[in-house]
Amino acid sequence: MDGSRSREIEVLLTEDRTFDPPQAFRAAAHVSDDTPYVEAGADREAFWAVQAEQLDWFRRWDNVLSWEPPFARWFEGGQLNVSHNCLDRHLDGPRADATALIWEGEPGDKRTYTYRELHREVCAFAAALKRLGVGRGDRVGIYLPMIPEAAIAMLACTRIGAPHSVVFGGFSAKSLRDRMIDAQARVLITADGGYRRGGIVPLKQTSDEAVDGLEFVDHVVVVRREEGGPPVDMRDGRDHWYHELVAEGDGACEPEAMEAEDILYILYTSGTTGKPKGIVHTTGGYLTQVVATTKWVFDVKHDDVYWCTADVGWVTGHSYIVYGPLALGATIVMYEGAPDYPDRGRFWKLVEDYGVTILYTAPTAIRAFMKWGDEWPARYDMSSLRLLGTVGEPINPEAWMWYQEHIGGDRCPIVDTWWQTETGGIMITPLPGAVSTKPGSATIPFPGVEATILDNDGQEADSGYLAITSPWPGMLRGIWGDEQRYRETYWSKWDGVYFPGDGARRDEDGYYWILGRVDDVLNVAGHRIGTMEVESALVDHPAVAEAAVVGRADELKGQAVAAFVSLVEGTESSSDLIQELRQHVGNEIGAIAKPADIVISAELPKTRSGKIMRRLLRDVAEGRALGDTTTLADPAVVEQLKAKYEGEA
Ligand code: WTA
Repeated sequence: MDGSRSREIEVLLTEDRTFDPPQAFRAAAHVSDDTPYVEAGADREAFWAVQAEQLDWFRRWDNVLSWEPPFARWFEGGQLNVSHNCLDRHLDGPRADATALIWEGEPGDKRTYTYRELHREVCAFAAALKRLGVGRGDRVGIYLPMIPEAAIAMLACTRIGAPHSVVFGGFSAKSLRDRMIDAQARVLITADGGYRRGGIVPLKQTSDEAVDGLEFVDHVVVVRREEGGPPVDMRDGRDHWYHELVAEGDGACEPEAMEAEDILYILYTSGTTGKPKGIVHTTGGYLTQVVATTKWVFDVKHDDVYWCTADVGWVTGHSYIVYGPLALGATIVMYEGAPDYPDRGRFWKLVEDYGVTILYTAPTAIRAFMKWGDEWPARYDMSSLRLLGTVGEPINPEAWMWYQEHIGGDRCPIVDTWWQTETGGIMITPLPGAVSTKPGSATIPFPGVEATILDNDGQEADSGYLAITSPWPGMLRGIWGDEQRYRETYWSKWDGVYFPGDGARRDEDGYYWILGRVDDVLNVAGHRIGTMEVESALVDHPAVAEAAVVGRADELKGQAVAAFVSLVEGTESSSDLIQELRQHVGNEIGAIAKPADIVISAELPKTRSGKIMRRLLRDVAEGRALGDTTTLADPAVVEQLKAKYEGEA
């Protein structure tokens, strides 16, 4: 167990504050008692079937669940369309002319769409994609900034049954290329650029590099972020302007009737090897869970203004910016840029300007706000807020308390939601009108979700690995093109039980405390990064002979990447080289993966059989006394490294 984890356990053992749902909140909440838990406990499948009835189905399912571990099929025989659920079904009622989407760009430009307008836009783009030859089952890459067209493109794909693969706009050309190749996506939707901290991110240019020479990419659709944007090269026959495409034709497009188990999307995430995995989600079960959780966890109602600050490039953006809230007819806020542009009050200004009532963000952002000072939120009227949420990494009780006081005005419940790209939707969370919270705990499984804590042998324990013991509707259906990896990664630790890769503890009240990853996946500012991915990027540099990457605790980001590198013979270590290596990782993967520390050493500590001792490198990176070094081939290596690290870091 590493130091950060034992520190955290210490904190949670002494954490005995409990907050009951505020009376005023409970009185109006969708869920204010334990009824759903009791119902789901009595008959889990019947419970999920009732949730599925909230959706609009073209054809009702024949069978709620078939489970042949590790393969689940939910709502088989049922047919539905996600864009129809998110748009068309609101058009007959009072939500038709209600605001669906409020968008603000980083420079301050604004756009809003009613449900009717969003529907029109999605249909026009869906029809355009069809004219380009995109049909059911064709994969479409999406590489966009946080602009309305990101949601529109996703919804347009779902309308015609084309699985999308959204790639976060901060990923490098190489990362985008790898994902396009793995998914064999025929079309890429991108933009000329997007804004970040005042600068323009040249997405089209990166896209050109990414798809260069990829024969199977027939079309690149380019959204013009604004007139007078960055210049782009448009290649004849391949590249099309979005605004020109949607202006053609009559803009009509009927939704495809998709099978419940048809693929809705692929989303790549980091694992323990160098190659990201394409997580596959399907249609009916996914939307069922996402809608049920959005409604109950965020207590969303039609008069709410709901803002999830994630990027649509991550699963949080898929499930809790686009699909869940729009299927419920909510009003969502989408913001393009950085929280500290033009100043550190930007988020709070957005809350004030739009009267945001529900805010969902990440612990790493909360810790940054804490550091920036109480005066920033204090300047704005945030009395509209009534519920706060967090996701992405464990939240330390101190940040939780700060969030409650300085953002929530001691009035708003906090929902700390544990889930993953793989789970599709929220799994462990309080229901804010019904479950008391404890700072730092994601509390209890959502109704219909069955979890426990197991040890290596599959025995129940108070502390060990988090385990999900029965299938849930939003679960991944596999890893794109790699069934073996699906079985090995998630289903081989125990028999028929899902292994999420997180350590956890359960307290005497049955509350879960998630302790972080137990595998070679780091969580840097809420972003998943595989140590192997960073290692492969480093060894790909001609100066590098060997690289070992570990995570170390970081006050702001939760974890930071620490890299230990040995150079090929004849190469001199220098601060320029270290800068170059850092940049190289940025180019290979994306800026989020750049190591915070790079230490160059003549050798890396290895066992006599030649295995790099990462455990010792973590000790070094976290400034701890070195653990057992007796199995090392040369114990002096790690001592020198420690001295060097402490000198340089
Ligand atoms: C971590 C993000 C503690 C966890 C939705 C998980 C959390 C990984 C929490 C998934 C939380 C997410 N408390 N840890 N509330 N939420 N995690 O796939 O380690 O980007 O396995 O999905 O984030 O990250 P992913």
